[in-house]
Amino acid sequence: MLTHRVVTFALLLWAKNICATGHPNEVASQRSISASNATAFAVTYGYPLTQYAATFDSLLASNGSNTLYHDRTTASASSAAIVRPNVDTLYSKAAIDLSHYDVALTIPSVDDNRFYVFPFYDLWSNNFANLGALNSTLPGKYLLKFVGASERVGFESPPSNSEYLGIINFPTVYGLIFPRVLLRNNSSTELDAVHTIQDQMELEEIPRRTGRIAPKLSAELFGNGSISPLAAKSSAAFDLNEITNLLKVVARFTPHNPPAEKREAQVVQQKLEKAGLDNGHYTPPHGLNFTIIQKEMYAEILSITNFLQNFNNDWIDFLPRYSGNFLNQYGVRSYIAYTGYLQLVQYESLYPEYEPGFVLSKNQSYVLTFPSGKPPVINAGFWSLTVYNTSSYLVQNPLNRYSLGDRSNLTYPDGDLIYGEDISDRNDAFSILLQSADVPPPANWTSNWLPTPAGGGNFTVNLRFYGPTQDLTAGGSYIYPVVAKQSSV
Ligand SMILES: *[C@@H]1O[C@H](CO)[C@@H](O)[C@H](O)[C@H]1NC(C)=O
Ligand SMILES: *[C@@H]1O[C@H](CO)[C@@H](O)[C@H](O)[C@H]1NC(C)=O
Ligand SMILES: *[C@@H]1O[C@H](CO)[C@@H](O)[C@H](O)[C@H]1NC(C)=O
Ligand SMILES: *[C@@H]1O[C@H](CO)[C@@H](O)[C@H](O)[C@H]1NC(C)=O
Ligand SMILES: *[C@@H]1O[C@H](CO)[C@@H](O)[C@H](O)[C@H]1NC(C)=O
Ligand SMILES: *[C@@H]1O[C@H](CO)[C@@H](O)[C@H](O)[C@H]1NC(C)=O
Ligand SMILES: *[C@@H]1O[C@H](CO)[C@@H](O)[C@H](O)[C@H]1NC(C)=O
Ligand SMILES: *[C@@H]1O[C@H](CO)[C@@H](O)[C@H](O)[C@H]1NC(C)=O
Ligand SMILES: *[C@@H]1O[C@H](CO)[C@@H](O)[C@H](O)[C@H]1NC(C)=O
Ligand SMILES: *[C@@H]1O[C@H](CO)[C@@H](O)[C@H](O)[C@H]1NC(C)=O
Ligand SMILES: *[C@@H]1O[C@H](CO)[C@@H](O)[C@H](O)[C@H]1NC(C)=O
Ligand SMILES: *[C@@H]1O[C@H](CO)[C@@H](O)[C@H](O)[C@H]1NC(C)=O
Repeated sequence: MLTHRVVTFALLLWAKNICATGHPNEVASQRSISASNATAFAVTYGYPLTQYAATFDSLLASNGSNTLYHDRTTASASSAAIVRPNVDTLYSKAAIDLSHYDVALTIPSVDDNRFYVFPFYDLWSNNFANLGALNSTLPGKYLLKFVGASERVGFESPPSNSEYLGIINFPTVYGLIFPRVLLRNNSSTELDAVHTIQDQMELEEIPRRTGRIAPKLSAELFGNGSISPLAAKSSAAFDLNEITNLLKVVARFTPHNPPAEKREAQVVQQKLEKAGLDNGHYTPPHGLNFTIIQKEMYAEILSITNFLQNFNNDWIDFLPRYSGNFLNQYGVRSYIAYTGYLQLVQYESLYPEYEPGFVLSKNQSYVLTFPSGKPPVINAGFWSLTVYNTSSYLVQNPLNRYSLGDRSNLTYPDGDLIYGEDISDRNDAFSILLQSADVPPPANWTSNWLPTPAGGGNFTVNLRFYGPTQDLTAGGSYIYPVVAKQSSV
């Protein structure tokens, strides 16, 4: 079993927020144990709904579902809105409600070699299908339909006389899309280009013969703001009241939103029933023991370290089959919902983490050497390295530089640019310097310097590979960055 300090550290933080550890040493009745166990399962299973509510509650209340919203700028250190933002793409989002209508999605034409993806998520945050640059998707209309737990979930070719280029079959009545489009740089022409693409995205409700199959999606279904991810409330833990609020919401959604895996439907149903979720309603079982619930949730969370894979040089990630689309790994699913809601499956992107983690005193630095040179992503793909402080926000620094990657002016040791117009196929090793924002390195390092929190301390980094080639996957030929700690330069 791989153990992973970064994951474990984040896990413990999460576990501390979500559930205090219990150390029971007495025996409660079997009946209360099994109801408590089932409750722990139901909370783990339903946790992603807290993030769905946080993402869409106010938009559902003001503008409803099946409507697109566009972020027009990338994040900065002064816009601490979402955690672990990327500064590579502009996001759009829409809550998808298939309860009364099918929905037609128009995918606009996107210039060659610009990465973009339309990821489709079910209500439980599984990335069950994608269209975009990696699929050479044709611009035009696609039909979004509800099919339930079924082998048909995902992309389906349309009948030959169809006005649609494809059909996306949703396993759940509600879900979401979260399109992202590469922003190459922060210039106004580039921003305009991406805004134009965003403005050409469309959603349209299409009447159908089956009519209404579930209630309309609303903030009220999510309990009128009574559930929250608890990410920001560091002092709060889930208590019985919060569990009750969450399970009321989970109960309401369960009937029309089965697990995407057909063979899981019955198992999940049984456990949820044991937890008191039945036919849209939640009735807390008699004799629930909160100590046991906490202990079981904690066990569920810790078990996720069984699902890690090692690339090399201590860079790791979850296994591909439990990334983005989590199948029956509900612990991994809720952990990712907490740390990086709306993950993509690994053919779209890899997010390797460095197992030992990072901590610096002010007079120290890390050099990340890329022995294999440029990370091999596909043509329209890209890569970046971003630093976050311990609150998972971007780091304030004099260059306003939050990430480095294939769109930066990275240089080889001799000063030649690594990326750019007239660059040959040269591919030598290069290095990135992680050093305090208040300790600027000598000029020959400036272009490869990624500032870390001023004064030193802990921080985290995200390596992102969009459109990764096989070489970047576990067992592939790419050598991941070698991390060396040294005195500041
Ligand atoms: C809950 O379970 C724990 C561990 O089994 C036990 O120590 C505790 O007494 C139980 N609490 C109640 C209220 O039954
Ligand atoms: C509750 O879960 C624990 C840990 O998975 C297990 O050991 C125990 O047998 C379960 N109890 C019941 C009654 O299912
Ligand atoms: C919500 O709808 C109103 C009125 O139709 C519109 O002015 C506003 O821009 C919409 N908000 C968003 C975030 O799209
Ligand atoms: C992009 O420009 C905006 C406005 O000038 C600025 O607030 C933001 O920090 C910049 N973002 C990046 C990633 O440089
Ligand atoms: C992290 O950065 C954000 C934005 O710059 C800042 O508001 C927050 O206080 C920082 N957190 C820590 C622990 O330094
Ligand atoms: C998109 O491409 C990926 C990777 O090749 C593939 O697994 C997936 O099925 C494709 N999706 C569609 C809708 O064709
Ligand atoms: C921004 O990107 C565009 C499109 O790739 C490019 O033409 C332009 O030169 C870039 N601007 C800067 C300041 O890098
Ligand atoms: C939500 O609020 C409305 C209006 O205050 C109320 O009628 C409704 O019962 C509430 N629903 C839930 C699920 O809390
Ligand atoms: C670096 O700073 C630490 C305290 O932050 C101090 O103990 C150490 O001696 C310093 N090392 C050097 C080489 O200056
Ligand atoms: C790279 O250098 C060029 C030329 O000095 C500059 O215009 C551009 O803004 C730089 N790009 C980045 C991302 O720093
Ligand atoms: C900068 O110059 C120093 C001293 O010549 C050298 O050791 C270092 O490797 C150079 N840094 C880069 C990024 O080339
Ligand atoms: C950094 O994180 C470690 C846990 O990985 C913790 O023990 C240590 O206290 C932290 N240091 C600082 C300066 O926050």
